[in-house]
Amino acid sequence: MSAMLLKAENLSKEYRSGAEVVRAVRSLSLEVDSGDFLIINGPSGSGKTTLLNLLGLIDRPTSGEIYLEGRATSRLSPRSLADLRLRRIGLIFQTFNLISVLSAYENVEYPLLLLRMKPRERRRRVMELLEAVGLADLAHRRPEQLSGGQRQRVGIARALAAGPALVLADEPTANLDSENSQRVMDLLAELNARLGVACVVVTHDPLVTKYARRIAHLRDGQLQEGSLNGV
Ligand SMILES: Nc1ncnc2c1ncn2[C@@H]1O[C@H](COP(=O)(O)OP(=O)(O)OP(=O)(O)O)[C@@H](O)[C@H]1O
Ligand SMILES: [Mg+2]
Repeated sequence: MSAMLLKAENLSKEYRSGAEVVRAVRSLSLEVDSGDFLIINGPSGSGKTTLLNLLGLIDRPTSGEIYLEGRATSRLSPRSLADLRLRRIGLIFQTFNLISVLSAYENVEYPLLLLRMKPRERRRRVMELLEAVGLADLAHRRPEQLSGGQRQRVGIARALAAGPALVLADEPTANLDSENSQRVMDLLAELNARLGVACVVVTHDPLVTKYARRIAHLRDGQLQEGSLNGV
């Protein structure tokens, strides 16, 4: 039996600019168990990034509640949210979001510094992660000295550094060629299979869809679970 990791209840997000209101996510409910590999797809503007930002506790919903490991998050302070995110959630962004003045090594090390991991353990962990993504030799390079695929793999190593229970990825292969896409997905699939890390991946990439254990479609801010057989 896998345990419930994340539960979103009646989640809504409205963006207001002047008189205009955009309802990006509408009364959406979702459960993610440890060990899940959920793929979410949907047309541009359907609310995918908005939803991931809510689930990743980066952005707050207009209404509704998100429970992470049974704990309601809507009333937590920004500081508690940041701490929870750091320890339990790994975020992989479409545009990598690496820190440009830091090396690959330092980017991966960053969350471990925030966690106050001891230097020796930290060094071992960073090298282990860079090896896992095939970048140990390029540890000293800054993002601008790396290819898109290499940058994405640094982003993944960073997302995994703190040993998250949940990985959220927004079109992680959108900027990668098929070989790098395969590599990145194999890495996530291995973590999922070996450590039971739950993955929620927003994508349109058919190469990614074949890794799914569940698939859901987002349309107009609402989620509809689909069957894997039809894919
Ligand atoms: N900060 C914001 N202010 C106002 N409207 C926003 C904001 N962010 C997103 N939106 C709107 O919310 C809706 C959902 O946007 P979102 O970025 O979540 O879509 P998406 O599914 O990720 O699209 P894409 O596939 O193009 O990345 C869109 O109509 C978008 O214009
Ligand atoms: Mg998006």
